[in-house]
Amino acid sequence: KTRVFRISEENFDVILDKAAAIIRRGGIVAFPTETVYGLGADGLDPEAVRKIFEAKERPPGNPLSLLVHSREDLGKVAKNIPEKAFRLMDAFWPGPLTIVLEKNDIVPGITSGNLPSIGLRMPDHRIPLELIKRAGTPLAAPSANLSGKPSPSLAAHVLADLTGRIDAVIDGGGAAIGLESTVVDMTVEPPVVLRPGAVGIDELERVIGKVRPAYGETEARNGGAMPEKKAGQKYSHYAPDAQVVLVEGEMKKVSKKIDALLENYRREGKKVGLLLSDETAGFFASERLSAYECFLLGSHEEPEEAARRLFEGLRVLDMKSLDVILADGSFSPSGLGTALLNRLREAASVRHAV
Ligand code: TXA
Ligand code: MG
Repeated sequence: KTRVFRISEENFDVILDKAAAIIRRGGIVAFPTETVYGLGADGLDPEAVRKIFEAKERPPGNPLSLLVHSREDLGKVAKNIPEKAFRLMDAFWPGPLTIVLEKNDIVPGITSGNLPSIGLRMPDHRIPLELIKRAGTPLAAPSANLSGKPSPSLAAHVLADLTGRIDAVIDGGGAAIGLESTVVDMTVEPPVVLRPGAVGIDELERVIGKVRPAYGETEARNGGAMPEKKAGQKYSHYAPDAQVVLVEGEMKKVSKKIDALLENYRREGKKVGLLLSDETAGFFASERLSAYECFLLGSHEEPEEAARRLFEGLRVLDMKSLDVILADGSFSPSGLGTALLNRLREAASVRHAV
């Protein structure tokens, strides 16, 4: 029931036409973007959008964002666009930045979760850009995973979650970034960053001045209470079946804490998997690690690689019937490290700061 289109230079046109035809008749198609795979439908057709919620088992009310192909689509779906929002588009579009703006009535309530605003993004990827153009409509496109699962960075992840539930998936290889876009709400002043991503706070501030992060980073570090969740943030993400336990802090301390936790879990007879940086893995003797399912995210020096591998790591470990996934939070919170730590915290049900 779910068609798999393996795209290449030779069949690009044919496949894009087929996919656009599915969208035009109200169907749903998954495709790669530079962030993660998206599940797209005509964002202005409530019936098509309803199919997205159904396929993903997404809670109604959790707003979808729209992918657009040009600035021309913009005035159709959004209004009262502040000048700062245009500066962000100049600086970061096409790219991994979702900009929340006041919506026009043409955008159905089901798409925006009945909010008066809508998230918009122009992806930096030929496949969705061409698909939007050929379908002739902005695409409602959440990440193409079952609600509560990690976002898909490969077509295989989409198929694992959504086979039989969607009309087609375009397999265009791995997502270059591997984490979802930065989301910035431009309907408030100062603008609020709802989700960190590849476009960092410092980069946003260089273009539009002060912004306010609303994802509780410092609170999490101090083990304090999280700030109240805003619209669009109140749904939990990235919850694998195993309990995810995150240890944050400097590498040596994290390694020692993981060492102690492993000993406790051994006594409790729990089956444990490890999600580690190369540096933390290097702290342990390799015989010690060989007793566990272990997924390496790469070096602290390469947060881009760790970001790209994170969701795959969570998925791989989650297939091993583990009781616990013990995750290494010793990455430094700069560049993509900030987004990486944010996703690890979202996935974790227990967090230790050492
Ligand atoms: O990188 C991405 O953004 C990917 C690719 C496929 O484009 N898409 C994605 O979509 O991650 P989704 O639906 O999984 O995440 C969109 C986020 C959600 O956290 C949603 O709550 C928030 O954006 N959002 C969307 N519209 C909003 C609005 N009007 N106000 C506040 N938050 C909004
Ligand atoms: Mg998502």
